[in-house]
Amino acid sequence: MSEVKLEDIVSLCKRRGFIYPGSDIYGGEAGLYDFGPYGVELLNNLKRSWWRANVYDKDNYVGLDSAMFKHPKVWEASGHVGGFNDPLAECKNCHHRIRVDKELGAISVTADEKMSEEEINRLFDENRAHIKCPVCGHKDFTDVKGFNLLVKSNLGDFTGTGERPVYLPGEACQGIYLNFKNVVDTTPSKIPFGIAQIGKAFRNEISPRNFLFRTREFEQADTQYFVKPHENKEAYDRIKQDRWNWYLSIGIQEKNLRWHQHENLVFYASDAWDIEYDYPTLGFDELEGIHDRTDYDLSQHMKFSGVDLQYQDPATNEKYIPWILETSVGLGRMFLAVISDAYYVENIGEGQTRTVLKLKPELAPVKVAVSPLLKNKPELVAKAREVYDMLKKEFGAVMWDDNGNIGKRYRRQDEIGTPYCVVIDFDSLEGETKDTVTVRNRDTTEQVRMPVAELTDYIAK
Ligand code: GAP
Repeated sequence: MSEVKLEDIVSLCKRRGFIYPGSDIYGGEAGLYDFGPYGVELLNNLKRSWWRANVYDKDNYVGLDSAMFKHPKVWEASGHVGGFNDPLAECKNCHHRIRVDKELGAISVTADEKMSEEEINRLFDENRAHIKCPVCGHKDFTDVKGFNLLVKSNLGDFTGTGERPVYLPGEACQGIYLNFKNVVDTTPSKIPFGIAQIGKAFRNEISPRNFLFRTREFEQADTQYFVKPHENKEAYDRIKQDRWNWYLSIGIQEKNLRWHQHENLVFYASDAWDIEYDYPTLGFDELEGIHDRTDYDLSQHMKFSGVDLQYQDPATNEKYIPWILETSVGLGRMFLAVISDAYYVENIGEGQTRTVLKLKPELAPVKVAVSPLLKNKPELVAKAREVYDMLKKEFGAVMWDDNGNIGKRYRRQDEIGTPYCVVIDFDSLEGETKDTVTVRNRDTTEQVRMPVAELTDYIAK
């Protein structure tokens, strides 16, 4: 486990405008977070990088953005109405609800949400003596019951009867299955091919916790790869490797990643692996799931919709229901892993430290900060504005920073992860050094003086 604590990351995220607690001014709302000005930039950069790797850099993947709300039957077909349950027990003293598999896990008893109610009740009974209510400390709980995680809406329910509940998506990928036939009919895609999508998911998590790790609203970046039945093995291995390599390509250190194969598979999966990340305080836990889902999804939607979702091979005319290999990662967990991995506290001498986010420059929310040495000298400010306008046109994510002394500005930009700080001083205005600026490198803290004319190329590189 890394030495950084989750609370350090939470504090930096709030302090520097990455993540705010949802509905903050009303005291917050459990399991919901808002991405602030620098958070949304990092999030968008992550999405762009993921999209490039999963759509543009591939020959046989296409993108999709499906509607969040879907026909209610979708969630019956997918198995979510009947079986998307977490095991819940209620404290008989204070009525606080616990997620039993997690409480068992905390005392090293292996359990998960896929176990039958009977099985988890048996485990719970065996271990009741060791499980205390986290709120009041009592040990008297109800039996374990499955609690459905789907979130209902009243979309289109003008009579208020609630007879036809329209759910928010429990997982984003269902929109891909619903559009499989549309994509085959309207694009050159031929099996094997993939569809990629980034979409929102909502889950009534019993105990949302650990910051962005378990929330009630989150985004998922999914790919679904359609293959001929039984031709899954080779593609599955390649996809697993591909996803691992992508994490390395965005700067995650390999020592902080590991594989975990699921022993207890959901009934339709033939194999399931997680890429785990060594989160601060939490240790290794799931980052991304990579699932071999067989023909379950398309078979179910074929059954419930009555539409033939078989694929007809254009070369052989053979018809079959494709098997699906899925990759699915929550953007919040990806964000948390990337920030945690880039977070360093370094000694800078004289008992002082600096906190710095060593994000890959392409992920950094701000590419360059521009400062006049003194903000009350109009001639410095005017020159700095010129440089700022020039860089903003080129890079977009450029920040004007004239708040506090230069040391404070550097500390602030280090914490945001800004790769370069450009300072306009009196030497920039006259003499041999006219039209030059200093550029400070985030990682080395070294400063170089260079002509304004070379700045754009230098930073772009
Ligand atoms: N379509 C497959 C699917 O939804 P999952 O394992 O339930 O599978 C996939 O979710 C990914 O979504 C997880 O690996 C995790 O990154 C993210 N995720 C799941 N539940 C989450 C939650 N409550 N909060 C944040 N991220 C979550």
